[in-house]
Amino acid sequence: MTARILVVAGARPNFMKVAPVLAALTGRGVAHGLVHTGQHYDDAMSDAFFRDLAIRAPDWHLGVGSASHAVQTARVMEAFERVLVSERPEWVVVVGDVNSTLACALVAAKLPGIRIAHVEAGLRSGDWTMPEEVNRVLTDRLSHLLLTPSRDAEQNLMREGIDRSRIRFAGNVMIDTLLRLLPRARARGLPESLAPDRDRFVVATVHRPSNVDHAERLQVILRALGELAGERRVLLPLHPRTLSRIREFGLQPLLERLDVREPCGYLEMLALQDAAALVVTDSGGLQEESTVLGVPCLTLRESTERPVTVSEGTNTLVPWPPTVDGIVVAAIQAMRRGRVPVGAAAPEGWDGRAGERAVDAILAS
Ligand code: UD1
Repeated sequence: MTARILVVAGARPNFMKVAPVLAALTGRGVAHGLVHTGQHYDDAMSDAFFRDLAIRAPDWHLGVGSASHAVQTARVMEAFERVLVSERPEWVVVVGDVNSTLACALVAAKLPGIRIAHVEAGLRSGDWTMPEEVNRVLTDRLSHLLLTPSRDAEQNLMREGIDRSRIRFAGNVMIDTLLRLLPRARARGLPESLAPDRDRFVVATVHRPSNVDHAERLQVILRALGELAGERRVLLPLHPRTLSRIREFGLQPLLERLDVREPCGYLEMLALQDAAALVVTDSGGLQEESTVLGVPCLTLRESTERPVTVSEGTNTLVPWPPTVDGIVVAAIQAMRRGRVPVGAAAPEGWDGRAGERAVDAILAS
């Protein structure tokens, strides 16, 4: 059976977004294939997610690996073009905003007869220095069908002159995965060593180039986490980029008060967020997940492309520019506000059915 629809995943935050789309395609009996570009390739950044999310093995693995933005994007394009030329699917489905998303959309846009659906379309931070913002805007421009996760995304697209006929509200596919796997994450529980700190510890993640590629900014963030660690246990699962910058800048001593860990798998991270007093992060996904879990979140960024997590959810942006005191005070305030029940702060369409709505919109187009 040749694939009518090819679904693309490349990097860690893509995997939880493609899982519900693949499930809905299977559920509706649509012939489809999965392409893994290999942008992320470590067990901890990729394979562990395929296991936790029970995604089947990709039909194509492009093996592009790490490189500069231009080289990585170019490698994905070269390899993906070969797949598309031989498969000629009707649709390519791309998700999120990583380099693989844009690279594959760009290839598909230039081959006749192939349409592109972008899942998680229309998010905008307004910060053009973020590589993800470039990827979002260009992918949306290239896509035939724009599947939005929240109502604000539709406004963003229309403001850019995109015709309403290309836009469908799907809701948040990432939350489909969260709601499906939360019972399993809870059943698995916390590591024994954390049990005494349940509902008291802080989970922090930081990996954005704007936070970790500059020694001063990274130092401020690590010092603030160190201060918080005087009051609460602070867990810091480290992205490989962050670890290498900490070594490069000689900031290892600032890790001494922190509970530093390897990057977490999906179920482990879900269990940690679910039992945390506070999430401190620069990740887009964690802003969304903590909102649905009802756990306070402090975002280490000047702006967010996910404003509903602030207006409706449990997220706050750190005062900008970040200082040690500013982060610590904001973190304490966020913890004082406390939790809300799971789902109580969830925006419209963050309900576990977004993958089905996305696939139905594709099939109806
Ligand atoms: C990418 C995405 C970002 C997403 C993040 C999640 C882009 C532009 N950015 O950023 O939106 O939030 O993934 O993690 O696509 N590395 C490894 N092993 C891996 C992958 C990466 O060690 O499996 C290291 C390499 O040293 C690499 C660095 O991490 O140079 C950065 O990886 P890359 O995929 O280029 O970007 P991320 O920072 O991970």
